[in-house]
Amino acid sequence: MRRKVIAGNWKMNMLPNEAIEYIQNFENLVKDTKNEVILCVPYIDLFYCLMNVQGTNIKIGAQNMHWEDNGAYTGEISPKMLKSIGVEYVIIGHSERRSYYAETDETVNKKVKSAFENDLKPIVCVGETLEQRERGEAEKIITTQIRLDLEGLTKEQVKNTIIAYEPIWAIGTGKTATSEDANNAIKAIRNEILKIYGEDVANSVIIQYGGSVKSSNAKELFATSDIDGGLVGGASLNPIEFSKIVNYDK
Ligand code: 13P
Repeated sequence: MRRKVIAGNWKMNMLPNEAIEYIQNFENLVKDTKNEVILCVPYIDLFYCLMNVQGTNIKIGAQNMHWEDNGAYTGEISPKMLKSIGVEYVIIGHSERRSYYAETDETVNKKVKSAFENDLKPIVCVGETLEQRERGEAEKIITTQIRLDLEGLTKEQVKNTIIAYEPIWAIGTGKTATSEDANNAIKAIRNEILKIYGEDVANSVIIQYGGSVKSSNAKELFATSDIDGGLVGGASLNPIEFSKIVNYDK
């Protein structure tokens, strides 16, 4: 039985004082869950969040990183830097980074490898556009992304990767994939992993759904056979709403 992993992606929201207040309100609301709880926060909030989650079951992740450990890359943050302050997770290849900042499967693959070299756990995002879905290409797109993004990893590394299936048309739009469609897409990803890395890896790897997850639809989505939790944007900005998603099974 795979565990459920529920991660909030704050995107470019929350000042440090707001982040601290959020955690103070949130920690009590999720302290009894057996689900894994992660907050992926802006770089500027990371250290404050790490200090404030000490002694709780909340884990902290970044939303992006460079693949090099250091160098002349103005404005970038390295995996080594994230690790040095105690960050555990990092989102890689979010569709917003792919579409606004020219992230490609090649850069995603470099970053995933570098995350493992630095003992960070990557949350790798894949997903199709509306046009691709309407052309019947969704499965081909996401399985190709998975193959390229995870290329060259060991079985053990793939087992320790979290994958987030986020159909681009469902992000921030209020349109959620039906639980059946989301589950089928995630089954296709799992099947691709089975073909490349074998049954043990396919059965163990955590695959989340993301795209307009809210407390009102979390239970239906997370109760399916293959969806192992969620990557939550907008609804993770409110600690009460996000705690209801984390506690979807209560
Ligand atoms: P929303 O939950 O706001 O649709 O965002 C999803 C997402 O992009 C999480 O990474």
